Amino acid sequence: MENKELKIKYTEYNISEINTEDENLIEKAKEAAQNSYSPYSHFKVGAAVLLENGIIIKGSNQENAAFPSSLCAERVTLFYANATYPDIPAKILAITAFGSNNEILDEIITPCGACRQVILETENRFNNNCRILLASKEKVLEFQTIKDLLPFSFGKEDLK
Ligand code: THU
Repeated sequence: MENKELKIKYTEYNISEINTEDENLIEKAKEAAQNSYSPYSHFKVGAAVLLENGIIIKGSNQENAAFPSSLCAERVTLFYANATYPDIPAKILAITAFGSNNEILDEIITPCGACRQVILETENRFNNNCRILLASKEKVLEFQTIKDLLPFSFGKEDLK
C-alpha cells in the first residue's frame, strides 16, 4: 500500500492584477450573467469564452420548470461556441456568478462536475489547454487547464 498525494496548480489574483484581455473576458461573463434565465434558483451564472480566432461567445444558465432540463452557463457557452465554430479551439473561459440580490458574489464559484467534463472534452477535441478564470467580486482564480479542476478524468483516451 502507498498513500499518494495529488497537487493542483492555480493562481489567485486580486482583480486589480488582471491583464486587460482577461479583464475584458470577465466583463463579458458578467454581462452574460445578466441574461441568465434563473427564475427558480435566482442564481445568475455567466460565462464567456475567447476562441483562438478572437471571437468571444457569451452564455448564461438557462433553467426549466422541469429542473433537470436546465443547463449551466458553462455548457450553454461551450456548446454554442463549439456548434458555431466547430474547428476553433477555446482559449480562455471566464466564469462568474451573481446572487439573488443581483450582486456579484464575494466568493468564487467553481464549475459543476458535468461542466468540468464538457470543458475537458473541449480541450481534448482541439488538443489544447483552455485557461479558466473564476471571478468573484475581488478575486480571480486562474487554472491553466481543466485537468487541474478535474483530476482522474475520463476522456477519449480511456475509450478503448
Ligand atoms: N450553475 C451554473 O450555471 N454553473 C455552475 O457552475 C454551477 C451552477 C447554475 C445551475 C442552476 O441554474 C443554478 O446555477 C443553481 O444551481
